[in-house]
Amino acid sequence: MNILILGSGGREHALAWATLQNPKCDKLIVAPGNAGISAIAECADIDILNGGAVAEFCFENAIDFVLVGPEAPLAAGVADRLREAGLLVFGPSKDAARLEASKAFTKEICDAANAPTAAYARFTEVEAAKDYIRTQGAPIVIKADGLAAGKGVIVAMTLEEALEGVETVFSEFGDAGAEAVIEEFMEGEEASYFLLVDGETVLAIGTAQDHKRVGDGDTGPNTGGMGAYSPAPVLSEAIATRALDDIVKPTMREMARRGMPYQGVLYAGLMIKDGMPRLVEYNVRFGDPECQVLMMRLGGQAFDLIHACAEGRLAEAKVNWADDHAVTVVMAAEGYPGTPKKGTVIRGLDTLPEDSQNMVFHAGTRAEDGKILANGGRVLNVTARGASLKEAQARAYAMVDAIDWPEGFCRRDIGWRAL
Ligand code: AMP
Ligand code: GLY
Repeated sequence: MNILILGSGGREHALAWATLQNPKCDKLIVAPGNAGISAIAECADIDILNGGAVAEFCFENAIDFVLVGPEAPLAAGVADRLREAGLLVFGPSKDAARLEASKAFTKEICDAANAPTAAYARFTEVEAAKDYIRTQGAPIVIKADGLAAGKGVIVAMTLEEALEGVETVFSEFGDAGAEAVIEEFMEGEEASYFLLVDGETVLAIGTAQDHKRVGDGDTGPNTGGMGAYSPAPVLSEAIATRALDDIVKPTMREMARRGMPYQGVLYAGLMIKDGMPRLVEYNVRFGDPECQVLMMRLGGQAFDLIHACAEGRLAEAKVNWADDHAVTVVMAAEGYPGTPKKGTVIRGLDTLPEDSQNMVFHAGTRAEDGKILANGGRVLNVTARGASLKEAQARAYAMVDAIDWPEGFCRRDIGWRAL
C-alpha cells in the first residue's frame, strides 16, 4: 500500500515509524514532515489544510491510504474531501470533528447521551457570563468554543482570575471566543484513553498520562505536553470499562444517531475521582506526545488496527498486548512555552540506539548541512520501552543525558504519578 500521513510533529514521526514496520506499507510519504521524519520517509511540502491539493497529490503519487495526524485538517473537512475523491482515509468527517472543534457541541452530545461530564452553561455575552461566574464562585473553568490551539481553556482558581479569564475569552479569541462554555471545576486525576471507532465498533488501544505543566512536580504554565507514559495505572480495567460503557459508547451511538458516525481515533480526556471517570474533553486525533508511547508499545500492528478502522472492520480486529511500559520525555527549546529559541544545534543524536525499545521522535526540528537544528517549542520526544515503568523511564533519561543540546530542557519526573 502507498500511504500518506499528514502532519509534522512527534506524533506523526511515531505514526510513520510504526507504519514502516508493517509489511502492508510499500511506500510512505509524510506531508509536510520534519527532519526526523525525512530520515525514514519521503516528505512532501503540500498545504494539508487544502483538501483539493491533498487529493490531487494522492492521485499523482498513487496513494491508497491517507492517515490524518492533527485536528486542523479534520476540522477543515480534509477527510471529507478525500473520501469524496474515493480515497481510503483514517480520520473523522468535519461534522464529527466538532467533538474537538466545539466544546459546546461536545457538551450537547454528552447531555443527549447521558455521559458524565462537568456541569456547564453556555454564553455569548460577556456580562451574562460574569454574572453566572459570580453566582457559581471559584474554582471554575472557562472555555472558548472553538479550536484555539490548546489555549482556549482557563482553569480559574479565584473569582478574580475567572472574571479576567472570561474577558480574555471574549476579546482575544475572536471567532473562537464568540461563545464561551463555563464549567464546573472537576477534581481528581487526569488520564487519556485512546479508542478506535469505525462508526459502529469501539476498540480501546491504550491508556496514557500526559504532563501538561512545564515544570517538575506539575508546576509552571501549561504546555502542549512535556512527556507521557503508557499504560496509566489510574485508568484501571474497572474504570476503563466504566468510561467505555458510560461515556464513549453512548456518545458514539449519539453521533451515529445524528447521522455523523465517528471514524478515526478518539482521545477521551478523563478526570477520575473515587473510581468514577468523567469526561474532560474529546480530541479527534492522537495525543501528542501520548501517541509516541502508544506507537512504541503497539509497533507495526498499529497500522493494521488503523487500516481496519478506516475499512470498517474493527469488529474483527484485536490488539495484541505486550505486558510492557513506555515513557516519552519531551525536550523543549529554552523559552517554551513562551517564545522558544530557534536555530540552536542539537548534537549526539547519532550516538543513540534506534530500535524497538529506544527511539527519539522529532517534533520541531530542521536539518541543515547535516546538522539537526531546533525549530520550534517542543523539539524532541525521547522515547523508551521497558518491562517496568521504572526501566522505561531510566532508558529514556539515559538517552536524554546523551543528547548534547545546552539550549534545550526537559522535565526530570515524567511518570512520577505512577511511581
Ligand atoms: P481541555 O483543552 O478541555 O483539555 O482543557 C485543558 C486542561 O484544562 C485539561 O487537560 C484539564 O487539566 C483542565 N480542565 C479542563 N476542563 C476542566 C474541568 N471542568 N475541571 C478541571 N480541570 C479542567
Ligand atoms: N498532549 C495533549 C494533546 O495532544 O492534546
